[in-house]
Order: sequence, then C-alpha cells, then structure tokens
Amino acid sequence: MKIKAFAPGKIILFGEHTVVYNKPAIAVAINRGVDVELTSRDDDEVNIHISPINYSQKLVLTGGMLEYEYDSSNKRISDYIYEVINRFKFNHGFNLNVNINMYLGAGLGSSAAVTVAVLKAIMLYTDNDATLDEIASIARDIEIKIQGAASPIDTAMSTYGGIIYIDENSNLNPINFDMQLPLIVSNCEIAGNTGEIVASVRDKYNKHTPIMESIFDAMAKIATDAKMALECGNSMKLAELMNMNQGLLDAIGVNTLELSEMVYQSRKFGSEGSKLTGSGGGGCIIAYAPHDIDEVYLKLSQLYKTFKCEQSNSGVYAKI
Ligand code: PMV
Repeated sequence: MKIKAFAPGKIILFGEHTVVYNKPAIAVAINRGVDVELTSRDDDEVNIHISPINYSQKLVLTGGMLEYEYDSSNKRISDYIYEVINRFKFNHGFNLNVNINMYLGAGLGSSAAVTVAVLKAIMLYTDNDATLDEIASIARDIEIKIQGAASPIDTAMSTYGGIIYIDENSNLNPINFDMQLPLIVSNCEIAGNTGEIVASVRDKYNKHTPIMESIFDAMAKIATDAKMALECGNSMKLAELMNMNQGLLDAIGVNTLELSEMVYQSRKFGSEGSKLTGSGGGGCIIAYAPHDIDEVYLKLSQLYKTFKCEQSNSGVYAKI
C-alpha cells in the first residue's frame, strides 16, 4: 500500500505577534509545502527519511507503538514526526519519506506543514477518518508540546489552505479571493528563533505596557482594514497597510538589519508594499508588487533566495 499526502506552508500577511495577544491576523497558504509518501511493510520496522536534510532513522514498533522520548533541549523537525507517530497504534511497520519543498525554519510554517502532512498520511494508513478540524486540533497540540507556545495560524493554514482572517476570538474566517496575490518571498537565510522572539516581545510588553498596547491596537486596526482592502480589491491600500505594519513590527523589536535591507531593496525595485513575515529576527520578507511583479522578482532574486509566491487554495490533501 502506498499513501501520498501534501500540506502547504504559509505566510503571514498581517498580525504576526499581535495574534498571540488575541488580535486579528491574516495568513495565506502557499503553493510550497511538504510531500509525504508512506509505504506499508510486512514487518515491524519504521524507516523515516527526511529530505533535503538527509535525515534517516530505522526504528522498530513494540506492541504496535514506537518508543520515543521527546528531548525538549534539542528541538528538531523529526520530533514533530515522532510525536505524530506516537499518537497511533500500528499493525505493521512502514517507510515514511518526508520531502520538505520549502525553506526550513524561515517563518513559512515548515514544522506545521510536516506535522499536518504526516498526520494525514498516518490517519489514512490507520483507517482513521478524521475531519480537517480534528487534524488541525491534533497538529496544534503537537506544535504547542514541541514549541512551548503557538498560535493556531501555522497548523490551520497547512490544514485548511486559502486565505484566512483570524479574529480576536481566534475564529478562523476564510476570505474568498479567487485571484493570485502578486507576492514575492525573499529569505535572508538567517534563522530566527520564534520562541525567543515571542518572549522578547512579552518582555517589552511587560516593561512598556501602555505603549505596547497602543501599538498592538494600531496593528489590529491595520489587520481589520487590510481584510476590507483585500475584499474590495484595493491593492494600493493593502500595500500601504503592509508598510505601516512593517514600521510597527520594527517598533516592537522584531525587525533586523538584514530584513530591513531586504524590505527597502524590494521597495526600491518597485514593490508597493513589503514587510517581514512570521516571527522576525531572521527568516523572510514578503514583497507585494501589483504593478510589476516580474521586475521586482528578477531584481530580488539576483540578491536573495527568492520565489514568486502563489496561494494554495487547498490545505492538506491525499495525492492519488
Ligand atoms: O515565524 P513563524 O512562522 O513561526 O511565525 C510566528 C508567528 C508569531 O505570531 C510570532 C507566533 C505565533 O505563534 O503566532
């Protein structure tokens, strides 16, 4: 038996960090993600291979389960996979090939895409007819266990796909948007540590609570206005709101010299809106270029690892 599954990664268009404080955010699932291929075996072996990081591990099921202890001092992408496998009981072993077709650890949700895609494949293998809501909920639980804290954004985007507005009550509201957003992603190739950056924002919040609250409120207003701008196709307003959001992300201390440079280069090359995406401290920027995406893409790709980012309207799915 062979099972194949795919789950997309994501970018955050608006609302990173403030979403942790129950403010609204907008995220977009992207057409880059994680492919998983599971092949059944007749024995009790479980062979895991992750590319492109060249990770291979051979394990044996004991009583239908894997014996694996998660080591919180050493968080690795493989931990998410073991954590998924640990939640099921198996009659036979299997080979699991996980192919990460996106930047790893760059704020594009690679760990959530791995978790959700593996979860889908294993659920199919164990005849578990889970709903998308169940997949999203288990995946989030796993992210919280391994990362310490996580908003529902990454796992929701990998599960449901599309463009989602997360409101102040953490409800996920799909935004219907048929066209492709003219977005480019560039990677500074310095990894940010989400947990540490979220903690640094918390410190600043505790130190300067009234100021941080005003900034968060402004960011929340930006996200709600951006939802309207998206819905009525007001691209210039959307771009302006991205630039304002970037300024406020700088104010809360999550911007870096490298990200700033990329943002200003992208604007110089003609992108109307640009900002960091995800936790900051490293990782990626997004450039929104409704007038000349090809030119901005060409110029950015001469300087940085860059791709044109198409949204994925589907979330996790089994491949036939
Ligand atoms: O860098 P990423 O993709 O892990 O995004 C983190 C987004 C935060 O809002 C900073 C944290 C969260 O859990 O939502």
